[in-house]
Amino acid sequence: MKKRDTWKTRWGVILAVAGSAVGLGNFLRFPVQASANGGGAFMIPYFISLFLFGIPLMWIEWTIGRYGGGFGHGTAPGIFHSLWEKNRFIKYFGIIGIFGPLIIFIYYTYIESWTLGYSFFALVGKYSQINSPQQMRDFLSGYQGLAKNQFFSNLGWAYLFFAITFLLNILVVYYGVSGGIERLSKIAMPTLFLSAILLVIRVLSLGTPDLSHPDWNILNGLGFLWNPDFSALRSPRVWLAAAGQIFFTLSVGIGVILTYASYLSKSEDVALSGLTSAVTNEFAEVVLGASIVIPAAFVFFGPVEIKNIARSGAFDLGFVTMPLVLQKIAFSRFFSFLWFFLLFLAGLTSSVSLLQPAIAFMEDEFNLERKKAVKIISIVTFILSQPTIFLLSRGVVNDLDFWGGTFCLVLFGTVETILFAWVFGMERAWTELHHGADINIPRIYKFIIKYITPLILIIILISWVFGKDGRDTIFLRNVSEENRIYILGMRLLLILILLTLGLLVKLAWRKRKGLK
Ligand code: ALA
Repeated sequence: MKKRDTWKTRWGVILAVAGSAVGLGNFLRFPVQASANGGGAFMIPYFISLFLFGIPLMWIEWTIGRYGGGFGHGTAPGIFHSLWEKNRFIKYFGIIGIFGPLIIFIYYTYIESWTLGYSFFALVGKYSQINSPQQMRDFLSGYQGLAKNQFFSNLGWAYLFFAITFLLNILVVYYGVSGGIERLSKIAMPTLFLSAILLVIRVLSLGTPDLSHPDWNILNGLGFLWNPDFSALRSPRVWLAAAGQIFFTLSVGIGVILTYASYLSKSEDVALSGLTSAVTNEFAEVVLGASIVIPAAFVFFGPVEIKNIARSGAFDLGFVTMPLVLQKIAFSRFFSFLWFFLLFLAGLTSSVSLLQPAIAFMEDEFNLERKKAVKIISIVTFILSQPTIFLLSRGVVNDLDFWGGTFCLVLFGTVETILFAWVFGMERAWTELHHGADINIPRIYKFIIKYITPLILIIILISWVFGKDGRDTIFLRNVSEENRIYILGMRLLLILILLTLGLLVKLAWRKRKGLK
């Protein structure tokens, strides 16, 4: 068996997993979801999801990743096969753990590149003259190539920043797990936390900036986000939104954490490390993420407008509202830069994790040199990224986000839980999870992982696929006639990618016959 890369330090792997988890989801998606779905009451389904399947999936992925790594497998096809050797088909199911991250990567990286672009624009003051939401929105759509205006006449800037972001991602994985990802995480994560803490302090000390509106103050801003509306809990949508947020924010069910964990040795702890990375992510989300955008927007726009702002979605909040808000405070260039750069670091540490499974697959299953694997994957992902850039207005990102960022996660999470608890067997699974562990996990989790986690995941999966939102997306009901062809074309591409991955798994196993 070929020698695989390993993490250099325990902190390195925890920071890398936390880096994968802490992303745009923590600073943009979470505040929007919480304020639109019951405020403080949202935290009830949120924490229930965290404890009943978020943390369990974290432990499952760390454990099966380390287990599969012991057989030289770093991705789901091989890991699933190691867990259920007798089954010839389970490895094919594992392709979702490569497909999902790849799909998320191709749109996530483009959005991440906007944050790099905006970091630059903040520093040079390219939007510093703008002071109305409409103009800031024009600036964004000009940048995205959705409109030609006085700010941008083509996609040139967006493409440039995409190219830089893409290259940076490739460079990190080119240097490997310890030389690239671990090194990046050790620098980027502390910088990210420091920037976020600085921003939180700045926002919380805003007080009442507009004295003609004494109730537009920071306490009411926090109240807007946290005051519970318990009636929201009657809607299944709110529960599904909370479940979706837990999946996305923890990066579980994607396929990336098991790949990271496959670079651990058998004697290294997974129980405490898994928990620590989840807790780090929750701190970044519930404490830091919640204390920036919404409270800041509240004090400048007030209690009426904030409702529209929160409803306008994560992009509007991050790229339209926040620059306007930060424009109004002292050292605005610095704080605007800090905001976008923080998002960029959060995005980068997540996107490299999305790239790693495909690379690990080529290395582990085809014995390719890392650098060669990176070259192949970079060409493929570069080509696949183009539709998200040029067809943004056609709704392809939403569709990719449904399949890659929603559906696949729940499906994958459900299958890996059943494999772990029922096929591998809960007794063995529990022993494996505790091998080399630095903590004893409460025994109640044995029951939760065996019964509760799979049950909840199956319910979520069914509700998503058969619920109205799921059906509308699957049958393109929310897509306009003229965009249909683009979405269908993209779906065809996704099917081709799945088939290619299936074929590659077949070839790899034929080549490695006899090897576990
Ligand atoms: N977990 C990553 C995020 O929150 C993908 O953005």
